[in-house]
Amino acid sequence: MELGIPVGCNAGIVDPHSVDSMAFRSAVTKSVVVGVCLVCVGHVLQLHTRLLSDDAKHALGYPPDSLLNFTERSARYGYPAEEHRLLTQDGYILTVFRMAGTRRNGGAGAPPVILMHGLLQSADAWLDAGPGAGLAYLIADAGHDLWLGNVRGNYYSRDHVRLRPDTDPQFWDFSVDEIGLYDVPATIDYVLNYTKADKVNYVGFSQGAGTFFIMCSERPDYCDKVGVLVALAPAARHTNTKSLPYKVLAKTINSMEYVLNLCGIQEVFSKGALSQEFLAFFCQFHWISEFVCGTAEAMFDSFHPGSIRKETLKVLFGHFPAGTSTHNMARYGQSMNSDRFQKFDYGRSNNIKLYGSHEPPSYNLSAVSAPAVVLYGENDHLVDERDVSWLLERLPNVLEAVRVSDPLWNHLDVTYSHLTNHSIFPKINDYLLKYSNDCQFY
Ligand SMILES: *[C@@H]1O[C@H](CO)[C@@H](O)[C@H](O)[C@H]1NC(C)=O
Ligand SMILES: *[C@@H]1O[C@H](CO)[C@@H](O)[C@H](O)[C@H]1NC(C)=O
Ligand SMILES: *[C@@H]1O[C@H](CO)[C@@H](O)[C@H](O)[C@H]1NC(C)=O
Ligand SMILES: *[C@@H]1O[C@H](CO)[C@@H](O)[C@H](O)[C@H]1NC(C)=O
Repeated sequence: MELGIPVGCNAGIVDPHSVDSMAFRSAVTKSVVVGVCLVCVGHVLQLHTRLLSDDAKHALGYPPDSLLNFTERSARYGYPAEEHRLLTQDGYILTVFRMAGTRRNGGAGAPPVILMHGLLQSADAWLDAGPGAGLAYLIADAGHDLWLGNVRGNYYSRDHVRLRPDTDPQFWDFSVDEIGLYDVPATIDYVLNYTKADKVNYVGFSQGAGTFFIMCSERPDYCDKVGVLVALAPAARHTNTKSLPYKVLAKTINSMEYVLNLCGIQEVFSKGALSQEFLAFFCQFHWISEFVCGTAEAMFDSFHPGSIRKETLKVLFGHFPAGTSTHNMARYGQSMNSDRFQKFDYGRSNNIKLYGSHEPPSYNLSAVSAPAVVLYGENDHLVDERDVSWLLERLPNVLEAVRVSDPLWNHLDVTYSHLTNHSIFPKINDYLLKYSNDCQFY
């Protein structure tokens, strides 16, 4: 994650337009080189998965939480979880977890809550901040029937009825476009069918919210199955994204997608890949986790001193990044070059074949009919406040837009901060409760 951007430590804070353009170009060039190397290293690591066995990691003092999977870890803290497998229309097999708190609120028929992670995460992200802070724990504690999704490509959903992720490049031929079209609807269907509830409530973080908008645009009937949408730092348009490392990474992968695919690189930043194993190894040391891993995280997003505990950093790099396709990363790169929220751009001639127009179609945000609550942070360098405002102007049914009162609240705080119970959870829970009990809302 440390990209060595030569424009100073606060790379994320530097506005590229204000920097002397020569210096900026050379910075970008260097960063591109570093970005490419990072991807290559990531790929090499892919070839050397399982560098260390879990036993070896235990012996090396890795925190137990970084080695446990979702159900093991939630059980360890007294939250028994179930593991479910579901099938999407296009053959992907996804894992979804159901987590029970100590008490149930509402009677039978209270809508279950689906919690959807962001880019390069898995459901594990919701546990990393620990009980009392991780949103999974807080939502379960509040008595909701909580279901945690995992989208195609992460290590819990790296499976397909026909395609093998390790040998079939077509497995990786997806971006948020397909996640929104298939994974989110399949997760909603599965939860509704299993619980026999009439509606679900949906809490989506970043990509988890962006893919919800895609679903509503392409399959509006699914929007009607949702009581309330809580969109946390929703990732739709990325025109104003400030984080230089993130921009460079995504844009580089976008410009190199063809070459990467030729080299057989369809999957990036997966768990067990060399880069992830290195992070897991180094970040488990006390002082490194705080000063190196914490700083790298802050450079990627922004500085919010004291927000993410050292213990959380040590654990989260045990399974972050969780993997996605180069195609999905490329799609993010494209969105940073565009001022629209649109489908994948395959180039003019291919777009004609696929979409019937030179330009990829924009998603129809007017179709997001579900009542929406949007929370965002002023200091978020991945999903900028200005892009959230752009989104809010287009969503037709916004109940409330909440700028988190903490002026330093950033993107990754949503999953990893120990301040969530105070900063964002009360608002989330207000709406979940409101849309749990009152039949009048339907
Ligand atoms: C998690 O670990 C348990 C116990 O080792 C195992 O039964 C389960 O299949 C694992 N779940 C996943 C999704 O890997
Ligand atoms: C979370 O906040 C609520 C309300 O302020 C408080 O009652 C509760 O004890 C807090 N929980 C934790 C784990 O801090
Ligand atoms: C719905 O759930 C029932 C059991 O609760 C299961 O037998 C059935 O296959 C499910 N249908 C779908 C479409 O998932
Ligand atoms: C977008 O969605 C709205 C609301 O469903 C609909 O009225 C409108 O026709 C849609 N626009 C396009 C271009 O499909």
